[in-house]
Amino acid sequence: MNHLIAPSILAANFANLNDDILMLNQSQADWIHVDVMDGVFVPNISFGFPVINAVKNIAQKPLDVHLMIVEPDKYLEQFAAHGAYMLTVHYEACIHLHSTIQKIKALGCKAGVALNPHTPIALLEDILEDIDMVLIMSVNPGFGGQAFIPNTYKKIKQLRAMASQRNPHLLIQIDGGVNVTNSLSLLQAGANVLVAGNAIFSDAHPKSIISTIKNLNPNTQIA
Ligand code: DX5
Ligand code: ZN
Repeated sequence: MNHLIAPSILAANFANLNDDILMLNQSQADWIHVDVMDGVFVPNISFGFPVINAVKNIAQKPLDVHLMIVEPDKYLEQFAAHGAYMLTVHYEACIHLHSTIQKIKALGCKAGVALNPHTPIALLEDILEDIDMVLIMSVNPGFGGQAFIPNTYKKIKQLRAMASQRNPHLLIQIDGGVNVTNSLSLLQAGANVLVAGNAIFSDAHPKSIISTIKNLNPNTQIA
């Protein structure tokens, strides 16, 4: 499978979100990554349904919704109604994760599970066949613009090995500190969905950053 690029609108210009979404529509972005933060699960608050609704009305790409909230079950139906294609919940926020995954699928969405940097891959052992994607956090969730945590590479390799027989189509998404410099090695470790916020929106030419990441070839040998 060719890898996917999902720009995170957390780093977009909220005073002119319209232009940034139109830019993404015209870019090689595959999905639009939507970070929802509740100020409880993470020490930050981002945005909620009115903003997601506005994005949905102009976006021509699937919405990849990353829920950094406690008790996500309460809101799954609303996120599905607001156009979520992928709904990703945090392992650490779900007491009955299997049940939450089944609810997401019953709503017609793809189901993702996110792991914080300290959460081991092995904890996915008994849920691996039930999910479409694992989001490996490569920073502590809550803020854009943080430095990438190198231990992520080990986790990607472990997960790819674990999934190779049991869920070969599993998407492995990396979120936090992704940029043009580390993207190739993340893909080569086994990731196939890259989220990037600041690397894209802080650049003067966001569309060209998106296409640079999108057009990387993981079969390239690193010298
Ligand atoms: C962090 C969010 C990320 C964030 C990534 O909690 O989940 O999606 O927007 O931003 P960068 O790419 O700037 O690290
Ligand atoms: Zn995210």
